[in-house]
Amino acid sequence: MLSLGLNLDAAISCLKAGLLVGIPTETVYGLAANALNEQAVLHIFETKNRPHFDPLILHVPSVESVEKYAVWNDNRLRVLAEKFWPGPLTVLLPKKECVPHIVTSGLSQVAVRVPDHFLTLNLLHQLDFPLAAPSANPFGYISPTKAEHVRKQLGDKVCYILDGGQCKVGIESTIVGVENGEICVYRLGGLSIDEIELCIGSVRLSMNVSSNPKAPGQLKNHYAPLKPLFVGSVKELASLNRDKKLYVMVFQDSGLKLENGVVRVLSEQGSTKEAAVNLFSFLREADESDAEIILAEWLPQTELGPAINDRLKRASVR
Ligand code: TXA
Ligand code: MG
Repeated sequence: MLSLGLNLDAAISCLKAGLLVGIPTETVYGLAANALNEQAVLHIFETKNRPHFDPLILHVPSVESVEKYAVWNDNRLRVLAEKFWPGPLTVLLPKKECVPHIVTSGLSQVAVRVPDHFLTLNLLHQLDFPLAAPSANPFGYISPTKAEHVRKQLGDKVCYILDGGQCKVGIESTIVGVENGEICVYRLGGLSIDEIELCIGSVRLSMNVSSNPKAPGQLKNHYAPLKPLFVGSVKELASLNRDKKLYVMVFQDSGLKLENGVVRVLSEQGSTKEAAVNLFSFLREADESDAEIILAEWLPQTELGPAINDRLKRASVR
């Protein structure tokens, strides 16, 4: 019988034994293992059915602890880490020898972040190794934002799930690195570009890689529900699909009512941050509902809007 709860000692015992633990973070739940134990890391790839070319993020307890595993190669990355950690930011840095190649898929850089969740921070402080943790979903499916999502999908494959409640950001971390002296963003995520640019000046977006990804969250089809998702004007899409059962996601309430389906509002307040918190659990709800297709509208391109739209695009039928 799988355990799910708040027992840090149980999580620590599992991790020390090289087993997998579902961990809460502010972004999404992670599927964690001792990053310095190659067998344990291999187990993550197998459990998620994840291709070996898709490297993992190293989760560490503090800015200071990064130096054990990686080299700060640009002061701007360090400035960002100091300002936004713990938080939804991942930095790519040259790795040190102690980080196994399997974690970085053979790349010379390692992705590192300090997650902002008291349970996982507490856990990391008590361990003498970092945690490799991708999102705790089967490869390509929607990331989990509640412990229950992890239990449903991977429950029989993990040793323990730390239940930290609903993730307060709801979409994955923003990934940044440096290339030819320029700060590049490889994955849009829970930290907006505006916040990054306010801190260190302008950055380059480098997210159109799909076959040999720096950040395979950038694969063309990712984050996808099982049912077909169409994105655009929901009124038009709904009238084209009058014969089907629909699950419709709108940003704010526009009074749209349907006889052949439900309408779910991502944020009554019109906040992209609130929309991010709801996005993945609504997509799961849609998959579990009796709807045949899912319709969604684009969000405004402000704050977390671009990161949400990026996920909608990758999840949609094109
Ligand atoms: O918010 C998050 O980042 C969550 C939580 C659990 O921390 N994790 C997450 O992990 O989203 P995952 O594995 O689903 O996505 C991590 C992304 C992948 O697309 C991966 O390719 C990229 O980070 N990445 C990891 N290491 C990298 C490296 N060495 N070079 C380039 N990209 C890397
Ligand atoms: Mg993922």
